[in-house]
Amino acid sequence: MTVNPKARYAEIHARSLRDPEGFWGEAAREIDWIESPKKIFDKSMGLYGRWFPDGVLNTCYNALDRHIATRGNQLALIHDSPLTNTITKFTYAELLDEVKTLGAVMQDLGVTKGDRVILYMPMVPQAMIAMLACARIGAVHSVVFGGFAAKELATRIEDAQPKLILSASCGLEPGRIVKYKPLLDEAINLSSAKPKACMILQRPQEKCDLVKGRDHDWSELREAAIKAKKSADCVPVKATDPLYILYTSGTTGKPKGVVRDNGGHAVALKWSMFNLYGVKPGEVWWCGSDIGWVVGHSYIIYGPLFHGATSIMYEGKPVGTPDAGAFWRVISEHKAVALFTAPTAFRAIKKEDPQGNFIRKYDLSKFRTLFLAGERADPPTVEWAEQQLKVPVIDHWWQTETGWCIAGNPVGVGMLPVKHGSPTVAMPGYDVQVVDEAAKPVPAGKMGSIVIRLPLPPACLPTLWQQDERCKEAYFNEFPGYYKTSDAGYIDEDGYVFVMGRTDDIINVAGHRLSTGGMEEVLASHPDVAECAVLGIKDSVKGEVPCGFLVLKAGVTKPVPEVEKEIVALVREKIGPVAAFKLAITVARLPKTRSGKILRGTIKKIVDGEPWTMPATIEDPMVLEEIKTAVKSRA
Ligand code: COA
Ligand code: AMP
Repeated sequence: MTVNPKARYAEIHARSLRDPEGFWGEAAREIDWIESPKKIFDKSMGLYGRWFPDGVLNTCYNALDRHIATRGNQLALIHDSPLTNTITKFTYAELLDEVKTLGAVMQDLGVTKGDRVILYMPMVPQAMIAMLACARIGAVHSVVFGGFAAKELATRIEDAQPKLILSASCGLEPGRIVKYKPLLDEAINLSSAKPKACMILQRPQEKCDLVKGRDHDWSELREAAIKAKKSADCVPVKATDPLYILYTSGTTGKPKGVVRDNGGHAVALKWSMFNLYGVKPGEVWWCGSDIGWVVGHSYIIYGPLFHGATSIMYEGKPVGTPDAGAFWRVISEHKAVALFTAPTAFRAIKKEDPQGNFIRKYDLSKFRTLFLAGERADPPTVEWAEQQLKVPVIDHWWQTETGWCIAGNPVGVGMLPVKHGSPTVAMPGYDVQVVDEAAKPVPAGKMGSIVIRLPLPPACLPTLWQQDERCKEAYFNEFPGYYKTSDAGYIDEDGYVFVMGRTDDIINVAGHRLSTGGMEEVLASHPDVAECAVLGIKDSVKGEVPCGFLVLKAGVTKPVPEVEKEIVALVREKIGPVAAFKLAITVARLPKTRSGKILRGTIKKIVDGEPWTMPATIEDPMVLEEIKTAVKSRA
């Protein structure tokens, strides 16, 4: 008997909300536990309850050891780097050996269960090995994206207080070597918390000096450990113990340390690999993100390995490494069945190869599904990808905080009809609702704040690192009984979720989440700036890019273009190149309401060339004319 996918999905989702303990208790059987959880959910623990509170496991065991008997010789990792022209492959057995060795090296450096280890690394296999080694010895990793500058790294060191930092001499960007070591040294100098040790991977493209007494050469330690036959065993941890901290942009310059636990994470990610992504153990899967983002954590590293799949890790770009056929070359060469990337990558490819000529050069016969996330998948990009690739293109919505998909199309359960502009429907465990300012549900089709009724399903954040109060304030206080996503949108009469944009100051630049508030703090720190506003403006490839408006202090004699250039350089220096802050516009005044609030929304509409109306509360309507003129002069 064939079951209609709609009915099947509806039944699964309804059951997950009606009987969460039954649903996730069953899903938990797919995980190897040292002590199986007797209790599935304890609502008295934590901020909204905790999953699998008495379960004990090891995440690395579930990612590697348990596959050895059946898949020891199967590839676990294919590292493909067009930037170094290398392809490196590891079987499950080989990856496990590397992880055991590095785990032992870290233990020798004094790292024990619960200690934090920061990774500031490029997309090299050693980054994956390091994350798994931390999981193996019960240490808590915190990966910092390589595109962040020293100050951002310093903030994270200060907050996480790592015992050890793992880094490399350099990262590679097209046509540019990013020297990581000076950034690392500066960050450690800026931070009051100092790591006991650093391990530095010397890459042949750019070697660096090591600080005596603190820095260790990664390869030398590895070789010595192999010679001495050192090997780390799996350290049992509680399901509720932290596996990692991942910092993400908050509404201020201070990032939020999202905590991920071990048990719920393993259960939800394992469930998602087949049911959501339709991938079977043994198949090749490619998530084209960076390990510095949550998508990279969940679907380059953990999800595919929990599932016994082969994961591709890619050090390159969708275009320019060497051309707009890079993605198709990787899919075809490694026989990937699915790709997960951000819509921005497809906009970049479409811009360079609108006819899709590169696509037809490659054998994509194994390729079944394209998954998009990280920002809203704009319908023209989705349509282009569908026409060119002739496979389903699945948008899905999630956040660093949730660790996996909130709304998606469950390909393994049975694919639902795609509606362009919607990431489809709520995944199991997520009771997604749209509410008004008074926390009252709004009718189907009406815009409002998207919230999730508590409890959140497994893998979602239990708290922010050592900041329960900030976590409550950021996510739970405004709509009691719900998690606030800070996304706005609506749900249609078929239950399809439409995510239209953020309700806070977060912008999404090339799939990267950034805080305009954080950028304003940098602009305001410039000695010549009296006032400023940063907002996200439309960009045809990156979706959004930041644009800064400046009012200079009276008496500034420096030429305006010089100040603007300094501002652009300052954001790059303080936040990093990833902010893609390239446009600063000086104006005489900023438009404000009579109560002094800067009218960012109206400025944004003017810059984006969208229709706008004069706000009734504006202090002086003439200011908007001045903004229009200033923007026009830069067009
Ligand atoms: N280390 C150091 N610098 C980095 C970096 C890293 N890991 N990653 C990016 N940068 C730098 C880039 O070199 C660039 O610097 P530039 O200003 O000197 O050119 C800057 O940060 C902005 O990078 P990016 O946003 O990646 O822009 P780009 O122009 O290099 O590439 C895209 C544009 C669309 C091709 C690229 O953003 C992309 O592939 N995005 C997909 C994003 C993604 O998968 N996100 C994951 C969420 S699912
Ligand atoms: P991050 O925490 O970096 O993953 O960013 C999460 C934010 O990106 C969300 O809150 C959304 O604003 C946005 N986002 C991610 N995926 C989607 C999507 N599929 N559709 C719309 N917005 C998305």
